[in-house]
Amino acid sequence: MKLDDSTGIKKGLTNYGDPAFSVYIRKAFAKAMGYADHELERPIIGVIDTSSGFNSCHHNFPDLIDAVKRGVLSQGGLPMVFPTISLGEMFTAPTTMMFRNLMAMDTEEMIRAQPMDGVVLLGGCDKTVPAQLMGAVSADLPALSLVAGPMITGDYQGERLGACTDCRRFWRDYRAGALNDQEIGAVEDRLCATTGTCMVMGTASTMAALAEALGIMLPGGAAPPAVMADRRRQAEATGRTIVSMVRKNLRPSQILTPNAFENAIRVLMAIGGSTNAVIHLTAIAKRLGISLGLKRFNILSDETPLLVNVKPSGEFYMEDLWKAGGVPVVMKELEDVLHGDALTALGTTVAENLAAVHHPPEWQEVIRTRELPLAENGGLACLFGNLAPDGAVIKRSAASSRFLTHRGKAVVFNSLADLHSRIDAPDLAVTEDSVIVLQNAGPIGGPGMPEAGYLPIPKKLLRSGVKDMVRMSDARMSGTAFGTVVLHIAPEAAVGGPLALVRDGDMIELDVPRNRLEMLVAEETLAKRRESLVLPEPRFQRGYGKLYIDHIQQANLGCDFDFL
Ligand code: FES
Repeated sequence: MKLDDSTGIKKGLTNYGDPAFSVYIRKAFAKAMGYADHELERPIIGVIDTSSGFNSCHHNFPDLIDAVKRGVLSQGGLPMVFPTISLGEMFTAPTTMMFRNLMAMDTEEMIRAQPMDGVVLLGGCDKTVPAQLMGAVSADLPALSLVAGPMITGDYQGERLGACTDCRRFWRDYRAGALNDQEIGAVEDRLCATTGTCMVMGTASTMAALAEALGIMLPGGAAPPAVMADRRRQAEATGRTIVSMVRKNLRPSQILTPNAFENAIRVLMAIGGSTNAVIHLTAIAKRLGISLGLKRFNILSDETPLLVNVKPSGEFYMEDLWKAGGVPVVMKELEDVLHGDALTALGTTVAENLAAVHHPPEWQEVIRTRELPLAENGGLACLFGNLAPDGAVIKRSAASSRFLTHRGKAVVFNSLADLHSRIDAPDLAVTEDSVIVLQNAGPIGGPGMPEAGYLPIPKKLLRSGVKDMVRMSDARMSGTAFGTVVLHIAPEAAVGGPLALVRDGDMIELDVPRNRLEMLVAEETLAKRRESLVLPEPRFQRGYGKLYIDHIQQANLGCDFDFL
């Protein structure tokens, strides 16, 4: 590659009114870091470092960055590492989702503002991968995603443990009185055995798999665990590949086509992926002018079997999926329904990449064959009806089959604070056939659409052995959670959606096979309730919170800002 004035160190000059001066002064400051002239003639690869003391999932990034740099240097590029904000799920209040768009803006603007010819997006924890993809597609510079990789499992009394499906199971048992304080403390010590992302098919694993399916991550890049040598080799190969993408000028807009998104949705269904991915994929596609639509998710879900036997839909963990061949083997099983001509970061097509995939021995336990799937259709379903005119989502693969068609009386909580103050009240009128409804936990009401949709089962029911019941809200749910939980109800209650009109005792009908969610209440009654409805006050009057509240879109539109 011959550098001209629009590439490398001469790209995007700082404006001092004299371009030649700007090059001279920039090179002088680059030389302060020890770079020689011949190095500054190379294509520059930005490497986004999202490590942070507040993000345990990205704790292996120093090692991965070393490997990426090796790969870049080996192909004649010059790696330049730079930071953006990081989002660690457990360390960010009120919820990382509130800051996904801020991270996307940071990513996009820093790619644009600094002199780089291509960029490696180093992410992993739930919101980081979609934020980086949203920013990178808007910047549309050659870009390649690399993730931290999942943790490997720990153990407790001989049982394998994985965050965070098992976190929730043990917490439920603790609430039910089956574990004491000492025992839950021992579980806490062992849940997260290594660095890396949650090792079940939560949002992080799902988004990594989808980046791979989209073709903007190397084949085989999603599943290798964070602590394995294979993860470092992926990083080194990512460094090599991004230089070749720069030489070919291969950009996200050429890779992320409507067909690539269909491939990703197929993979989402086959892996039993996180409900959050519906929002994130919608947002990434929308940045490219591609409208996915929840009904399209349903069509592809109905046509795609659930193949991956990983928690929370199945029984294994991400390290088992890696040993079984990872996403390439899943895509090989789906090959006849994928768009084989979709282009990938290697410059080859999906079909060309899959031609090289071989099944390892014993892979069928973790990745089922098309002939013997875990379920005939995909893990997610989108619901519509008078309770969710713009849609809602349920992870049917993690739900109890007996509740997939259900009628029950609503027990309504009008906020998270209301839920927490009353859910365990001994006199709460609730049975296992009730439907627990949470209002005002959506994008605006939450605020930030917290992962609070996995509503707790009342203690008195837990103690009598109830393990699941129908719960619904405008919130999200961690991809690691399980149960019959309806999420992302749109429009949300805080903007006056029908969810705001539900009252205790209303009959709610859930019919997942027919993709329906209804409240069986007369229209005149709803009209009266609508007239007297008082919407909650906006939570923020200044700063990023106000920008967020003023511009956030609803879940069915991907929760991106309306100006992006
Ligand atoms: Fe980071 Fe689960 S908390 S991936």
